Amino acid sequence: MSDWSTRFTANMQDYAGYSIGKQLAMINDPDLISLAGGLPSPETFLIEELRQFTEECLSREPSRVMQYSPIRGEPGLMEALIAYLERDSIRVGPENLLITSSGQQGLDLVGRLFLDPGDPLLVERPTFAGALAAFQMQRPAFLGVDLESDGLDLNQLETHLVRGRSRGREPKFLYVVPDFQNPSGITLSLSKRRELLDLCARFEILIIEDSPYRHLRYQGRDLPSLYQLDQEKGGSGVVGVQTFSKLFCPGMRVGFTMGPPEVIEKMTNIKEGNTLNTPKYTQDMCSAFLRQVDLEAFFQRCRVLYSGKLELLQKLLAGFFPPERGLSWTRPEGGMFVWVTGPENLDTSRLLEKALRFKVAFVPGAVCYGAHPDHRHMRLNFSYPAEDQLQEAVKRLSDCLHSQDG
Ligand SMILES: Cc1ncc(COP(=O)(O)O)c(C=O)c1O
Repeated sequence: MSDWSTRFTANMQDYAGYSIGKQLAMINDPDLISLAGGLPSPETFLIEELRQFTEECLSREPSRVMQYSPIRGEPGLMEALIAYLERDSIRVGPENLLITSSGQQGLDLVGRLFLDPGDPLLVERPTFAGALAAFQMQRPAFLGVDLESDGLDLNQLETHLVRGRSRGREPKFLYVVPDFQNPSGITLSLSKRRELLDLCARFEILIIEDSPYRHLRYQGRDLPSLYQLDQEKGGSGVVGVQTFSKLFCPGMRVGFTMGPPEVIEKMTNIKEGNTLNTPKYTQDMCSAFLRQVDLEAFFQRCRVLYSGKLELLQKLLAGFFPPERGLSWTRPEGGMFVWVTGPENLDTSRLLEKALRFKVAFVPGAVCYGAHPDHRHMRLNFSYPAEDQLQEAVKRLSDCLHSQDG
């Protein structure tokens, strides 16, 4: 058969996939230090506990573990989740929950449910490249809203909303990562959270809140989620897409979406047509994690580990890149990423090719824009590399930026 492209759907013709996914493949090169992925540190994996949970699960109900299971999710995990969310002052019932095979599946289901080709959709500038990849499948029209040091530029957002309304083309939703955002590390302030909810309620715009790093705060005080604040006001304008990838482990691929029953029902219908159920085994591992691990102590261990790495990265950047070298970077209060900004003429997509020759990798900022990419930025991850690797990686980055050739 020839010319496959004519056989692909219109949605797939120009679809190039998830660029960070390709970069993740590189972490298998033993000589390369990758600051590209958003991977948790293996030091946080609860291997012994997992052995014990597996043993318990297999002896309790071996045949059920090997079987198909409910598409909406295991009742045991739903119950554990309801209690877990109560700690975060969120009150939901099973009708508000859909277990997903990771946060990425939640984003995919959201895109399929709400977006028709050409639909306007609001995203932060920059935003999580994986969300762009998920939504891109529906060929929406991305409208970017700049990030300020305390989150979304709400004036710009309002301008989009007013314009959309006057043209009869209102955005289908706003996608926002409010806590230690991927890729920028920026957190949406409390006052902006409240203003954002008021603005979106006024224009009846749905908010998709994606917050995988929420419990990884190293400084400052916890802020209520948009979901919680909206619920307190009696609203139903926020859908939460969540994952256990960053705090339990990404290998299990378990996440969940919470929202109004009508939305959950429809997302379940879509899931019926693709993966059916999330494996019972991985859901049971998550239930055991939620029920049997001292979560506060575990989160605290992760915070100590990651805040040390963040501090080290900040020191290294300050040491290798004094102001005259023209780079600046964010100082996040949590999460896994630092966002570096270079001079006007820096193209980090090209720089990455050179950096790979220096055996160091990062995410070039251009992949984090729905439209009109900005090429001056790079995202650096600090959670995965060991401290000596972080040290060597920043040195290599500095050598690469210094070197004149290519
Ligand atoms: C903001 C954000 N949302 C969702 C995800 C998806 O995580 P997963 O598919 O591993 O659950 C990630 C992972 O990097 C992320 O950073």
